[in-house]
Amino acid sequence: MKILLFGKNGQVGRELNRSLSPLGTLLTFGRDEVDLDKKDTISNIISKEKPDILVNAAAYTAVDCAETESKLAHRINAEAVEVMAKEILKQNAWLIHYSTDYVFDGKKQTPYTEEDLPSPLSEYGKSKLKGENFIRKINPKHMIFRTSWVFSSHGSNFAKTMLRLAKEKNELKVVNDQFGAPTSAELIADVTAIAISCIKNNIDEKELSGTYHLAASGKTSWYGFAKTVIKEAQAQGSKHILKLENINPISTEEYPTPATRPQNSRLDTAKISKTFEITLPNWKHHIARFAYQQSEKKT
Ligand SMILES: NC(=O)c1ccc[n+]([C@@H]2O[C@H](COP(=O)([O-])OP(=O)(O)OC[C@H]3O[C@@H](n4cnc5c(N)ncnc54)[C@H](OP(=O)(O)O)[C@@H]3O)[C@@H](O)[C@H]2O)c1
Repeated sequence: MKILLFGKNGQVGRELNRSLSPLGTLLTFGRDEVDLDKKDTISNIISKEKPDILVNAAAYTAVDCAETESKLAHRINAEAVEVMAKEILKQNAWLIHYSTDYVFDGKKQTPYTEEDLPSPLSEYGKSKLKGENFIRKINPKHMIFRTSWVFSSHGSNFAKTMLRLAKEKNELKVVNDQFGAPTSAELIADVTAIAISCIKNNIDEKELSGTYHLAASGKTSWYGFAKTVIKEAQAQGSKHILKLENINPISTEEYPTPATRPQNSRLDTAKISKTFEITLPNWKHHIARFAYQQSEKKT
């Protein structure tokens, strides 16, 4: 089985590089090799390599910048994805792609299911939804994994920012009225590998193809997320770090950002759990490991 991976240097891409390697011949590409802003490059690499599966972990992910760079966000998150879907269809291959909780407006009171109607609040969310729609329309052999609040010891993310700020500042104010499930890039990559194993095992394509919500279980706010990360760093022996009582909750209104985020980012993961017979761990499960990896780097 030949697997192509786009976005090898991103948070999820790096973990996929690890988790997909035992599954077949894995060819990985970063921006230098395949720039998603150059449509010909995408077509050329797919028609040359003729993969069985393309896993696209590359995306324009700068949520706030997308408000002013919406054309670029749409080119990378939607138009480039359309090209992938068309080329992959020609190969009769699978396209595995990632999307986001930000396709929803967050007004629902309970976790979002795959059946809920998306209604993105931000340009980033709109561009990701457009990419999803192209895939659903063009290539029946697809898996779209919508995930949320991704963290990893590589790249930039909220957890790393909080750790850095907790070492620099005497006080932190963190939003406490948006709710979701922090999800490690490791978990996303491991579940992707399980899904690909199902493809390898020739499970009926109609049973597997579709959109799935892939997030850790449980819920917290950004404030709860920050406190847990800092508490774990303390437990790992991190010195000169902010005391938990100096982390204060604030409202979304008190922390205005260019892009509006959904208040409720919770994703219902019943479908993915049932289809792939998996148990999604609580979001805190990978935080200890993350804090350990960060402390190792420091010493
Ligand atoms: N991060 C989150 O909290 C979050 C939440 C929900 C869903 N998601 C989705 O999960 C997926 C993976 O996200 P992530 O957190 O791993 O993102 P990430 O760390 O920002 O990685 C994205 C990768 O895409 C690459 N990229 C950007 N523009 C490109 C271009 N023009 N051509 C080629 N590559 C390009 C980047 O390349 P460089 O390394 O060269 O910059 C980067 O390696 C994405 O689909 C994202 O929308 C993420």
